[in-house]
Amino acid sequence: MDSKLRSLLSDHSRYVESFRLFLQNSTEHQCMQHFIESKLPNIISSIGNDKPVIDVLGVGSGSGEIDLQMIAKIQARWPGVPINNQIVEPSAEQIFGYKERVAKAPNLENVTFSWHRQTSSEFESQVNEDKQMRKFDFIHMIQMLYYVKDVLGTLKFFKSCLAPSGKLLIILVSGNSGWATLWKKYGQRLPLNDLCLYITAGDIAEMLSSMGARFQSHELQSDMDITECFIEGDRDGELLLDFLTETCDFKRNAPADLRDQIICDLKSPGCSTTKDGKVIFNNNLSVIVVEAD
Ligand SMILES: C[S@@+](CC[C@H](N)C(=O)[O-])C[C@H]1O[C@@H](n2cnc3c(N)ncnc32)[C@H](O)[C@@H]1O
Repeated sequence: MDSKLRSLLSDHSRYVESFRLFLQNSTEHQCMQHFIESKLPNIISSIGNDKPVIDVLGVGSGSGEIDLQMIAKIQARWPGVPINNQIVEPSAEQIFGYKERVAKAPNLENVTFSWHRQTSSEFESQVNEDKQMRKFDFIHMIQMLYYVKDVLGTLKFFKSCLAPSGKLLIILVSGNSGWATLWKKYGQRLPLNDLCLYITAGDIAEMLSSMGARFQSHELQSDMDITECFIEGDRDGELLLDFLTETCDFKRNAPADLRDQIICDLKSPGCSTTKDGKVIFNNNLSVIVVEAD
């Protein structure tokens, strides 16, 4: 790794700003919404059978946009059944955004929210210290496993938190996405193993297989308009580049050869296509649904 490069996650505000920009420029949440509408009802169809309360855990939930859509599907499947929704999220800014969203959202009367301002490993240590392993009917980890140090340990721990009919839903970039191409080629020179790991859903599937876990995968098509990354001095383009490389102020801090190579490769067929003068990055995602033992 080039020593001047810092993980984007070390600057929370910049991270949140570039993440919001990424959401604006991509179909990330739209493809998740489509999945929630078309596939989630079947996935969650038995998680709440005979439950007086349905326990849900969101890990790395951000500002909760996707969480609330999934909760709506659980409510639709078990009308009126109380839902205990716990959230593990280290960013105060994201938790603030989540609380604001909940305050404005209708139809959440039967849902209680508890936010834990913690990383997943802090939550794990606390659960182990308390020796009170609460079981959850539905756990989701959406676009967050890049930010844990011990991915295999984290998968094992959260799988062990599932109730007997529970499901663990993971979303990460797909092994056939532009992200995978970029990270395979440049991961060694980016702030790897600092706060961010360049893993894809393919890596998670291998780990789950090694654990003997039962799981299914679903592919989601998604893209991201990265045209602004190629406009000199464009601040949004710089923030998007930060998000793509998970590096803080990449354009200013990266050595010139790395910067130029990445900017060139971002336009290559392994990462993007060009449509109507726009550069469209392959942001395909995979959803992995893990069953309880
Ligand atoms: C890419 S965002 C995804 C947010 C949301 N799940 C979504 O898809 O819209 C990653 C989230 O993971 C959170 N995060 C980062 N490191 C984490 C960790 N070690 N444990 C739990 N969450 C983490 C970040 O604060 C951020 O909100």
